[in-house]
Amino acid sequence: MRIPLIVGNWKMNKTASEAVSLVRELLGRLPDLRGVDVVLAPPFTALESVRGALGAQPRFELGAQNLHWEDQGAFTGEISGPMLKDLGCRYVIVGHSERRTGFGERDEEVRKKIRAALRHGLKPILCVGESSAERDAGRTESVVIGQLEGALADRSPQEVAQVTVAYEPVWAIGTGTAATPDQAAAVHRTLRRQLTKNWSADVGEAVRVLYGGSVTPQNIEPFLESDEIDGALVGGACLIPESFATIACVARARHV
Ligand code: PGA
Repeated sequence: MRIPLIVGNWKMNKTASEAVSLVRELLGRLPDLRGVDVVLAPPFTALESVRGALGAQPRFELGAQNLHWEDQGAFTGEISGPMLKDLGCRYVIVGHSERRTGFGERDEEVRKKIRAALRHGLKPILCVGESSAERDAGRTESVVIGQLEGALADRSPQEVAQVTVAYEPVWAIGTGTAATPDQAAAVHRTLRRQLTKNWSADVGEAVRVLYGGSVTPQNIEPFLESDEIDGALVGGACLIPESFATIACVARARHV
């Protein structure tokens, strides 16, 4: 059975010192994390202080929200895989819809970023998801399969096994309107089928597929009741320690 994974995407929130307070509160609320993997993805500027607040035997893994595909060079404002690795990151979010729509990231860039992450031993969390117009036009499946293949086409089965996929319908992100668990499970099934078909049955079995988009402590439970849904990518609710802790506890209870 795949261990549930809960990822907190802090987006552009919290200074380094605010981040320390948030992590301390979280640690106080989550004494035991056996049975669930939890990743915190603060802004780049807070990675070092979050790492410090987690202490010598961290209960959470550290993740970044983005990376550049080159290791170093004249790329003003960018951050590379080796820099993230050096700060203790184990995960990195790639292809979030806010990067695709707000910063013009296309499958081509997403593919290069996935490749860079894997090269440096970072586990990519690949985000895919359709807009409401695409859903209304019946294109959900083709959009998410296109994004999956666009990002991973030239990767080996061993590499794809390192990837987590996050299904995040664009219309559900930050809107307060989550997909229904049935809608999410249907897309997850499609993604897993494609992973099996394009790479292998082992890959289809190993890769965790998360749901993201307006996840809250109130709505998380039915998502995690589905065998298709291996956890959540949480935005707004991860900034409230009580909410994020509750979501992680629900995921742990599901696995135990
Ligand atoms: P949300 O964001 O939980 O605030 O909808 C999710 C995400 O963008 O990853």
